[in-house]
Amino acid sequence: MGTRFVGWGMAVPDKIVTNDDLSKTLDTSDEWISERTGIRQRHVGGTTTELGALAGKRAMEDAKVGPEDIDFVLLATTTPDRMAPSTAALIQAELGLTCPVLDVNAACAGFPYAVRVAQGLIETGTKRILLIGAETLSRWVDWTDRNVAVLLADGAGATVMEYSDTDNDILSFVLGASGVDADLLTCDHGSYFFMDGKEVFRRAVRVVVDSASEAIEKAGIEAKDISLMIPHQANIRIIQAASERLGIPMENAVITLDRYGNTSSASIPMAFWHARDEGRVKKGEYALMTGFGAGMTWASSVLKWSL
Ligand code: ACO
Repeated sequence: MGTRFVGWGMAVPDKIVTNDDLSKTLDTSDEWISERTGIRQRHVGGTTTELGALAGKRAMEDAKVGPEDIDFVLLATTTPDRMAPSTAALIQAELGLTCPVLDVNAACAGFPYAVRVAQGLIETGTKRILLIGAETLSRWVDWTDRNVAVLLADGAGATVMEYSDTDNDILSFVLGASGVDADLLTCDHGSYFFMDGKEVFRRAVRVVVDSASEAIEKAGIEAKDISLMIPHQANIRIIQAASERLGIPMENAVITLDRYGNTSSASIPMAFWHARDEGRVKKGEYALMTGFGAGMTWASSVLKWSL
């Protein structure tokens, strides 16, 4: 008995902003952004509710479930549409659901954090959960600040998780946070994202490697057993450094940041959607999802696909 993933969906706004578009108004270039981050373009626009609801609807269709089948909506987001109510409530209304709702904010580690919350709910009696990661970071970006504007973007990914009598997809979890580092990456009310990029980079590699190694050990497997690594999509160099230190080949990593930039809580479920779409999610194989973000927060989990 356990928890399994039964459907995936994603959504991005139509508007694409390329690196060349940014270099028209910022002192930057396609060459710098591509080389230093791996990002080539990003999608910008919409609201967290719109993007989250669309990704959620698609995940429900993929899972072949209707509104009456969803018992809880969990939304991982750093960019809620309102202070109150939760954006999960707005998405619930949009999708015609009547179940309880909750927002989870763990920044870019938000999706794995929310999966952990969902797992706890399922283990204590909730049958089926619509779990969404959705962000509209572009609304909180100072478009004259090249340190941040080249990185952050908008999008949503979603999954349906459910109780199973026979299967369990989640083998281990390692979550962590270090609130004393809050000012390294922060966004105040009515303000813009600020980031000490170099320091975030350094710490990101460390927490990803440490938490992923621990999650792999807890799952009772070795790094060589991981056929799919689904990292938070912040910077290709962070993913390369982590993959090298963990001993997981880059071919096993899912990379979507070239197309979408850093979409925070949405990046991991969007990458899952792509992995599934490309036939890379295979029954019986092991996957590692790992993220880090403002807080600082971090989260790694080893999964084994039952479907
Ligand atoms: N375009 C052109 N030049 C730039 C840009 C830019 N966009 N940004 C910085 N530079 C310049 C700098 O001024 C510096 O110039 P100098 O050598 O003349 O002083 C040079 O490029 C190198 O700057 P660095 O800061 O050393 O660049 P670095 O290689 O560290 O890359 C980056 C910066 C991309 C921000 C990187 O540090 C990074 O990705 N950090 C982690 C970011 C991250 O993961 N954030 C998570 C956010 S998630 C969330 O919770 C919302």
